[in-house]
Formats: sequence, structure tokens, C-alpha cells
Amino acid sequence: MALVHDVLIIGGGGAGLRAAIAAAELDPRLDIAVVSKVYPMRSHTVSAEGGAAAVIKPGDSLDAHAYDTISGGDWLSDQDAVEAFVREAPAEMLQLEHWGCPWSREPDGHVAVRPFGGMKLERTWFAADKTGFHMLHALFQTTLKYDSIRRYDEWFVTKILVDEGRCQGVVAIEVATGRIQAVLAKAVILCTGGCGKVFPYTTNASIKNGDGMALAYRAGAPLKDMEFVQYHPTGLPFTGILITEATRSEGGWLLNKDGYRYLQDYDLGKPEPKPVFRSMELGPRDRLSQAFVKEQEKGRTLVGPYGHYVHLDIRHLGQKLIDKKLPFVRELCLKYENIDPVKEMIPVRPVVHYMMGGIHTDIHGATSLAGLFAAGEVACVSINGANRLGSNSLTELLVFGARAGTAAAAFASQQRKPSPSVLAQAQDEERRLGERFLRKTGGTEKVAALRAEMQKTMEESAGIYRTASVLEEAARKLRKLQERFHDVSLEDRSYTFNTELIAVLELSYMLDVAEAIVHSALQRRESRGSHQRTDYPKRDDTQFLAHSLATRGENGSPRIEYLSVTITRWPPAQRVYGR
Ligand code: FUM
Repeated sequence: MALVHDVLIIGGGGAGLRAAIAAAELDPRLDIAVVSKVYPMRSHTVSAEGGAAAVIKPGDSLDAHAYDTISGGDWLSDQDAVEAFVREAPAEMLQLEHWGCPWSREPDGHVAVRPFGGMKLERTWFAADKTGFHMLHALFQTTLKYDSIRRYDEWFVTKILVDEGRCQGVVAIEVATGRIQAVLAKAVILCTGGCGKVFPYTTNASIKNGDGMALAYRAGAPLKDMEFVQYHPTGLPFTGILITEATRSEGGWLLNKDGYRYLQDYDLGKPEPKPVFRSMELGPRDRLSQAFVKEQEKGRTLVGPYGHYVHLDIRHLGQKLIDKKLPFVRELCLKYENIDPVKEMIPVRPVVHYMMGGIHTDIHGATSLAGLFAAGEVACVSINGANRLGSNSLTELLVFGARAGTAAAAFASQQRKPSPSVLAQAQDEERRLGERFLRKTGGTEKVAALRAEMQKTMEESAGIYRTASVLEEAARKLRKLQERFHDVSLEDRSYTFNTELIAVLELSYMLDVAEAIVHSALQRRESRGSHQRTDYPKRDDTQFLAHSLATRGENGSPRIEYLSVTITRWPPAQRVYGR
């Protein structure tokens, strides 16, 4: 027996919950379900630290926010999407306050905002350095007041069901019991987040495996701009745990092994004697991560057990400020590095943080497959272009989560019930999972070994700097890993909380997504934002002012095509910082 709903949301993080609320508000008669592989409060949104951007201060403007976003994205953002984003952002942030999000305040009671990387004015709202936790909590408790929202916590989606040319639901595993279940719906919204775990060092939680990207890609919806992978300049060297940009926004410094503020050598501004707004440490993430590599090449970084690193120094901010505005940073440093940043410098290195690319959607979150929508990091609308500015993504998940929820609800209201013929596909999927994994005999490959090889390949080929020869080699290696994946075998054949089964399915998603990243990077023969090709060091607007679209080919390899960028009011120009 299938479960049947009107709107089905996959993912219980910020975008998913915002979408659920929007759908419930559009039409209270709709039956809405949220399927999430983790309990919603454990979604990765919870770990966001620094803040969410929206214009609020006098002197700021929607155009200024739009321009920072577009120039920060190296002109690959669709400007109609950016204009909608900056316009709707302030109301979303206020709405969240009304739902209970405790934004930090100025002494006079006004909402406090901090500067953030690549933003030329202060517009990042925050809740100390636990912004994601508070936002997710406010969204989660708000969903609880709608009787029409039903949840399936710890259910893992394995397939999107497509029939009569439209998406009609999914197949999912109830992790606690191993039951494989068709969940049918008139509209499905993917909100499963990014895919940082394709790389070995990342700020991303281990749940971020590109599930939604691969599900959509397999169902025929293209992935857009997958070559654009963001490195955050300040992750802890081993765990990859994020040390928020807010440390630098409050006045922290990046120092090389000689104690020198090396960013002054990279066109990002001059050092200031004390913490200042818009210090060079608050440049955009792509430029800061590239500067780290250059510094490493000059032999001016430190080396530890997990590779090269530099120091983030916040000692001069003092304990009072650190405890008030950066308490989580102090807690993370104490717990995971056994250092107190009030007295010691923090070792940091660039680590993978965010995917600018994702499922190709229009401005309402609709993908090219009827009935399938996407929002949040899993999607590429695209507002982030070739490099996202810090604090735009939390706001993005509100604005485009709400848009996708409304659009999916409107779509669902006009559809017939899902057709019972999709159930045959669900039965095929159940058979596939049994034959390929749970009842499979033989097979010598192990999930952990294949995953480690994939991550190493990605770090070596699709990192901060790339070249054709290394990417070509990576494409070959990933194909080989896909072949070896057929020979994977599980030790756990049980049905109850079979986390090995979940891990193997996640690995299969990551392999697809990794191939899309590498092939998109190979075809883009230019350097733009986070995609730096040492063999094509210049931005090439003549050929590549365009989004890449990766479609899954017959043999499973990606086929790359291009789509024009929407330019409304800001023609391409040079990106200038530090002046
Ligand atoms: O550094 C940070 O707090 C990250 C923020 C973001 O990615 O938006």
C-alpha cells in the first residue's frame, strides 16, 4: 500500500521546513509530508554559524545587496533571481523573528548586523554564532502548529517516481525497520542540501551526500554549474569544522607561519592596526582560499598532521567579546582542538563548504521535470553564480524555500491523483535494493574504501586550482570507481537501522555527483570565481558567460551543455576588493 500526499518535501532542514510552511499557508486543505533522513533538528542547517544577509540598515539598499551578490558571483548569477532574492529577504527575516528566532540586538534594541565576506555594507543578521540552530528551531516549532504537515523522520529516499512525464512521488526506506515504501504525491520538493562529503575535508555534516542532486539527475533533471565548489578559508584542519567568518568580521586576523597578515599581498586591502569593518580578512571566500594556496606555494604556511594550515588570531578581541559574540567558536576550539582562542591562535585551512551548483530550477524552484521542485543548497536558481557570499545561503533557503513551497502547492492543487501504475516502479526498486545490496552474494569492494578513493580523487583534481590533465585523469578514475561499485558488498544484511545500506546508497549518489562536478569543470575552459583553471587563468565572457548543465547520458556519464546567464541591470565588470 502506498502512502499518498499532495505535496511531498524531501529534507527537513531550513529550506524543507520553510517550503512546508509556505505550502500549508497557501492552501490549508493540502496534505503535506516531510520525509527526512535525520530528525529535522539534526539537519545541516543547524550547524550554520555566522548569519543571514538581508538589507535593514539605513544607507544600505536592495541594489547594493544585489550588486555585491552578482559581483561576488563573478557575474554568473541570474540577475532576475538575485533581484527577487534581495527584495524578499528582509520580510523573510522579520517573519522568522515573529516565529521566534532570537536575532542578536544592538544596545538600543535594533536588530544587530555584522559585516560579512565580500559584502561591502553590514547586512548580516545573526544570533550570536549559532544562527543556523536558532533559525532551524524557529522553523521547526512553526511547522508543529500545522495539522496538515505530517513528518516521516529517518526515512531515506532511494528513487524518484516518474510517470506520464511528471514526478509522482518517491520510494523510501524507513530506516528503523528497513521497510521499503512508495510515497506518492502530486508535487515533490527536494531540499536535501549539498554534497560536501564528496570531498575529504569539509565543514559539511556526514549526511551531506548529494542525495537530492543525484535523485533528480537520475530522473532526468539537469544539474547546473556543478564545477563551482566553495572552499571556506577557515575550517579546522582535521575535522573540517567551520570556524565562522564572523571571527574575521569581529576583527580576527589570518597570519602565516611568520605571524604576517599575508592577505595584504593579494589585492584584498591593507592591514589595519585594530579590528575594523571591511578588513582584508573579510574578502570573498574564493579569493581567500586561493591566497592560502599561493602562500603554501611560497613555503609560508605551517604543516601539521593533516596538511598545511595558517593561524586565525582572535586573541586581541578579548574574552568579553568572544564570549558574547563568538561563544560557539570558543566551545568548538576547546572541544575539538583543545585550545582556548582567548589565549591561543586557531589552526585553520580552506575546506569544502558549499556547492554553488545544484539542480537546475527556475525562479519558483521548478525543475525541468513537471511536478519536481528544489530549494536550498540542493538547487541552483542561480543567485550564487561562481562564488557565494557568506550569509546569503541561510536567507536563500528562506526566500526560495517559501517560493518552492508556494509553487509546488499551486501545482499540486491542479493535478490528478498520482497514477497507480507508478507502484510497479516502486516494486522494481524494492527488488533492486534487495538484489544489489541486501541479498547479494559475492562482491569484494567495501563502501569505506571506495568512498576514500573518491574523496582523494576529488581533492586532488577538483580543488581550489584545476587543470585539464588532472581533471581528465579524475574522470577516468571516477568511471572506474563506478564500475567497482557494482562489486560492492555489505556485511550488514539486517533490516533494522541498517546504516551500512544507507552508506552504500549515499556513496552511489556521491559518485554520480562527483562525475558531474569533474566533467563540468573539465568543459569550462576559463577561470571564474571558485573555478580556477591554471591552464585557462582568465575569465572568458565570450564563451563562458553561461551556466553549465550536466545531464546523465546513456552510459551514466554526464553530458554538458550551456545556458545563457540572465543579465538585467549589471553588465559584467571586474571584481574589485580592498579599495
Ligand atoms: O562562516 C560562516 O559563518 C559561514 C556562513 C555561510 O556560509 O553563509
